[in-house]
Amino acid sequence: MSTVLVLNGPNLGRLGSREPDVYGSADLDQLRSTLAQAAPAGMTVDVRQTDDEAELIHWLYEAVDERIPVILNPAAFTHYSYALRDAAALVTKAGVTLVEVHLSNPHARETFRHTSVVSAVATGVIAGFGFDSYRLALDFIARSVPRVS
Ligand code: DQA
Repeated sequence: MSTVLVLNGPNLGRLGSREPDVYGSADLDQLRSTLAQAAPAGMTVDVRQTDDEAELIHWLYEAVDERIPVILNPAAFTHYSYALRDAAALVTKAGVTLVEVHLSNPHARETFRHTSVVSAVATGVIAGFGFDSYRLALDFIARSVPRVS
């Protein structure tokens, strides 16, 4: 059984009621069940959310230590958290996949959202497809990351 960590940053716990015109009307539990259904047999998807930068960083350490691939929506931390970027770099420098995802397309929004301090150290970036951003990332991980069975 292999695991994928799906880590969500600040305010994503409010999915469903937060700006539904931008982020959709489905909540985090619906993301959890969507990804559980999309995961291939033998793959567990561990969806977490925190508003706390330190907690998110510690989850990335866990990914490094346990060699668990990561789907990361850093939310607003995307745009300014060098601490999160450094932790994300630890993941990819260790040879562990980290896909940065966004529900919306930040490049089509306010200027401050056009910068991601995380993207340069991510394995890849998928943005603008709602929950499908996560599904595409999961599909990539399922096809590319060797699984322990
Ligand atoms: C987001 C985009 C960010 O700019 C924003 O701060 C979020 C969500 C997205 O998924 O589209 O909280 O990461």
